[in-house]
Amino acid sequence: MCGICASIGKENEVQDVVLGLKKLEYRGYDSSGIALLGDEKISCVKSVGQIKNLEKKIDKNLCCPVVIGHTRWATHGVVSEENAHPHISQDGQFAMVHNGIIENFEKLKTQLDVCLYSQTDTEVFVNLIASKTGETLFRLLQAAKEVVGSFAVALIHKNENKIFVAKRQSPLAVAVSKTKSMAASDISVFAGKFDFCYILDDNQFAVMEDGKVDFFDENGKKIQKNPVFIGDFDFFEETLQEKYFMQKEIKEQPVALRKEFFKYFSECPNLDFEALKKCKSLHFVACGTAYHSCLLGAQFVQQFCKKPCSVSIASEFRYARQTFSKKCLYVFVSQSGETADTIACAKLVKEKGCKVMCVTNVPYCTLEQMSDFVFPTFAGKEIAVASTKAYTCQVFALLCFALLLSGVDKKESLKNFVKEFEVLPFQEKLLKEICKFKKVFFIGRQQDYVTALEGSLKLKEIAYLNCIGIAAGELKHGTLALIDNQTLVIAISTQERLKEKMESNILEVKARGGKVLLLSNLQHNFTPEFRIDLPDFEECFMPIVSIVPLQQLAFFYSLALGFNPDKPRNLAKAVTVE
Ligand code: F6R
Repeated sequence: MCGICASIGKENEVQDVVLGLKKLEYRGYDSSGIALLGDEKISCVKSVGQIKNLEKKIDKNLCCPVVIGHTRWATHGVVSEENAHPHISQDGQFAMVHNGIIENFEKLKTQLDVCLYSQTDTEVFVNLIASKTGETLFRLLQAAKEVVGSFAVALIHKNENKIFVAKRQSPLAVAVSKTKSMAASDISVFAGKFDFCYILDDNQFAVMEDGKVDFFDENGKKIQKNPVFIGDFDFFEETLQEKYFMQKEIKEQPVALRKEFFKYFSECPNLDFEALKKCKSLHFVACGTAYHSCLLGAQFVQQFCKKPCSVSIASEFRYARQTFSKKCLYVFVSQSGETADTIACAKLVKEKGCKVMCVTNVPYCTLEQMSDFVFPTFAGKEIAVASTKAYTCQVFALLCFALLLSGVDKKESLKNFVKEFEVLPFQEKLLKEICKFKKVFFIGRQQDYVTALEGSLKLKEIAYLNCIGIAAGELKHGTLALIDNQTLVIAISTQERLKEKMESNILEVKARGGKVLLLSNLQHNFTPEFRIDLPDFEECFMPIVSIVPLQQLAFFYSLALGFNPDKPRNLAKAVTVE
């Protein structure tokens, strides 16, 4: 993953790069660093942990005209200052920051006659550049031809007042004004500083100078690029009244859904539904939480449009030996729109000549640029690593999409739902009881099974609890063997037609001594040990209603164990590596 940020100019380049890295911290926060170029000398400052640790090491008044910076999510090598970027070539001529993975770095390493100080693929890449001869851009072009894998890089040479950038499969944008040029993994870094930016395509290169930028193709031929207007973006600075972004984002869900409803039904989505209606089937593809949204999306389309649907995990889809159909609409769901596996699948589908639709939350993201149809979500910026409002907005978006595609008019009930839906306070006293259990299972059927999967993912990722979500009917096919009086089973039951089936499964758990926390809006014929009463809405809205207490449970559980729910270990917000 990782985020890169680079700046050249006469202003506050050091501070701007550090600020940029803070905005990119969602891409990884294992370690960070900057390289400064001044008086034909490169110097580095690095730190392990969050950007605030790096900030403490940098003099607030430090000035330097050329700065490159990096925030890391470890791929090659442990978390340490040695492995933190920027990396310097052995001859001391070049420094580089890199987002991506060089897959053939071991092979390249054996070809280079250098002694490496880190375990990173990036140090190999920068030494490969140094091993070439000629102008810096030419060396970068040559090295890029030899590396296999993904990269967005910013490179400096100790004798040149320039920054060289390149991109393949990892995002990179460049912005320029009269007084400075910046490059970053994400255009939110440019907000407030530039009116326009340029989004690099794969195998494009740029040479940035103070107030000037030139673009090149992979053969070094100068190219023209069209700027994108930054003013279009909803880049309001995130301020935090609550202590954690996750808490804020959980609370924001009703407002986000209202905005989404307004966008879909008052402004009308800019989608050619007549063209989309011609598709005979739909195939949804995504990762993690977005995959869970897809599972619900498929259920909505099947229910309202009566079209067959299938759902794949992106990392599986891309290597499956499968057939593609031009009559199928392939739908890719991604909050960031930068997830490597999801993008690879969309690319594959396009290569087969099939139609791609994306459901993304970040305008101008990579996935959006390669899609034939775009159905945006309007969750607003999501900062906490664990997805909450982006998930409920995806679910609501896919419900609205299914309804618009089917022609079923449910505008009034959607409107009433967004009007009445609220986030209720979490019963914190329940937490004390729940925390006693070290074994937790989430069960449900159909849409409640998806909530079980998502609820358990939240608890895993921010409270580090080894729990699983399982289809309630599957328990007796193996997992029931694990149930004893030390086990908590969180049962979600929101569908009248499946109520009795759920009751049978829950009684099977109770018969083995398992304790039950029931989340339901229905009247059941048994007494659970614990209960969360859900507000009662039409069945199709219940996945949005029932996930909220599970998001809160994970949040408070994480806090109770002394973790930072916003920044779980080993994870990052945008997964831009395979
Ligand atoms: C979990 C979570 C992840 C993401 C997944 C896909 O809370 O956020 O599972 O859903 O990494 O990310 P996007 O949606 O950006 O493609």
